[in-house]
Amino acid sequence: MSASPLGVLPLADPSFHGGDPFPTYRKLRDEPLLYRCETPGFWAVSRHEDVIAVSRDPATFCSSRGTLLSDLERPIMPRQSILYIDPPEHGKYRKLVQPAFSPGRLRALEGWIRATTTRLLDDFGDASGRGAGAAPAGGVDFVADFAVQLPILVIAEMLGVPGSDLEQFKKWSDAAIEAASEASPESMAQAAELLTYFAGVLAERRVHPGPDILSTLVASEIDGERLDEFDLLMFCMTLLVAGNETTRNLLSQGALALARHPGEMDRLVADPTLVPRAVEEMLRFGSPILAFLRTATRDAEVRGTPVREGDRLLLLYASANRDERVFGDDAESFRIGRDASGHVAFGFGEHFCLGAALARMEARVAFEEIVRRWRRIELAGDPEALPSLLVRGLVHLPLAFVR
Ligand code: HEM
Repeated sequence: MSASPLGVLPLADPSFHGGDPFPTYRKLRDEPLLYRCETPGFWAVSRHEDVIAVSRDPATFCSSRGTLLSDLERPIMPRQSILYIDPPEHGKYRKLVQPAFSPGRLRALEGWIRATTTRLLDDFGDASGRGAGAAPAGGVDFVADFAVQLPILVIAEMLGVPGSDLEQFKKWSDAAIEAASEASPESMAQAAELLTYFAGVLAERRVHPGPDILSTLVASEIDGERLDEFDLLMFCMTLLVAGNETTRNLLSQGALALARHPGEMDRLVADPTLVPRAVEEMLRFGSPILAFLRTATRDAEVRGTPVREGDRLLLLYASANRDERVFGDDAESFRIGRDASGHVAFGFGEHFCLGAALARMEARVAFEEIVRRWRRIELAGDPEALPSLLVRGLVHLPLAFVR
């Protein structure tokens, strides 16, 4: 039973968050105390300042006892992903992959990302039969035809997956992403095949190192020791899962926002230098990651609410990003002119997203290329939201692009 005046809210129901949860999030923020969701048992951390306070104190609010609501139902392996490692050990792992996301490395990748984006967008034209770059007559499914494709091609390039393996790699990684949030026997079997595949690639990189992340990882050490096979495979899977569905949802939520706000699209077409600002607003407004979880390691207090050792706290980034205390009275509207830089779409603190600069670059290049080709984006059908407790995603997004 909830002691809150808000009664029992469906905060553990994936379809609630996939719908329009924002009026409820606002009520959560306006309550003086944190809301307690009794089943399965967590505190909903909904205000921006509370998300920041919890995220900046990993000694009190740890990640090693789970980062997803689904972790409450399954055993957690030590070091199953960098996301689950607490400081000080966490920093040692993070340092290993950080160079792969350095500004220099990313700059070197931009031309490749632009060429890949161009190829994918040109295929929109081919699908309509009106020639490369033309507005498709019946529209495209922006999720399947673009947003799914770009992030996976980019991560495959960074991991050094050979082009000949790409199709199979895409199938396996889709299954691995599915298994990460809701495992079925099929997706688990596919994920196991992907691990075997990665084990083969790692063995090959030990003998023939290249300029990719995996070659760097097989040669790296923590406290004078090489990473073992488990740690290496953990990194492979984390980079794949963490970078894919998230960026996919940034791209599709961003395109949906522009379709629903033609005035904002007009501004971008008139002045494409606004695209980086627009991407920050897409991150704030769309919040591709809904929430991550923490566990209290001792008794503490958050927003005047006593929290007991062992209690779970759900950091609702999607709510914090609409907090009118930070983003003003029009926090619920999509406005690319605003300063959205305080958003927490990439989390905050120790576990701040390692791929943030990469995701920003992919979205910037994608929307630069879109506004260069088309003047308007129109909905060509109903978008289908993904019911999820982890991501704010779209399954289908039928769009027509108009010159
Ligand atoms: C729009 C796209 C993305 C969003 C919204 C996003 C969001 C997040 C968030 C909220 C966290 C914090 C997790 C926590 O505090 O427990 C995180 C961590 C992480 N992200 Fe991202 N992410 C995105 C793209 C990427 C990409 C492209 C990559 C890599 C290819 C990536 C790799 C990671 C990794 C490795 C971590 C764990 C960092 C750590 O534990 O120190 N992410 N991400």
